[in-house]
Amino acid sequence: MLAIGCDHGGFELKSEIMKHLKERGIEYKDFGCYGTDSVDYPEYGKKVAHAVADGECERGILICGTGIGISIAANKVKGVRAALCTDCFMAQATREHNDANILALGGRVVGAGLALKIVDTFLDTEFSNDERHIRRINQIEE
Ligand code: RB5
Repeated sequence: MLAIGCDHGGFELKSEIMKHLKERGIEYKDFGCYGTDSVDYPEYGKKVAHAVADGECERGILICGTGIGISIAANKVKGVRAALCTDCFMAQATREHNDANILALGGRVVGAGLALKIVDTFLDTEFSNDERHIRRINQIEE
C-alpha cells in the first residue's frame, strides 16, 4: 500500500499521479488534501510520514508547490527518509543509496509527464543493500 498526500500546490499533480497508479494497478491511500483551497502542507506531510513510519504503508508520495516544505515536514518523523526529486536519476539514486521511503515532488516545478516517470522510477527501483549504504542510513537515525 502506498500513501499519497499533498497541499493545494500539489493537488493537480496528485490527481494525475493517482490516475497513473490506478492504471498500473497500484493500491494507494489518499491522505488529502482534497481540493485547491489553501491548506498547510505540514499537516499532510506528517500524515503520510506517520503512515509510512508506523508501517501502515510501505512507501509514500508527497506533493506541494515546490516539494520542499512537505519533505521537510515529513523528514521530522523518525524512520522517514523523504527525498525531493526533480529527475529520474535522483529517484533511482535515492532508492538505491538512501532507501528513501517517501518521494517528494513539486507540483509547480515538474510537469506531469516527467513526474510520472519519476514516480515509476521511484516505485520500480530497489534499495542496493550495499553495506556502505546501510551504514550511512543507520548514521542518519543515530
Ligand atoms: C504554498 O503556497 C507553498 O508554499 C507550498 O505548496 C510549498 O511549495 C511549500 O514548500
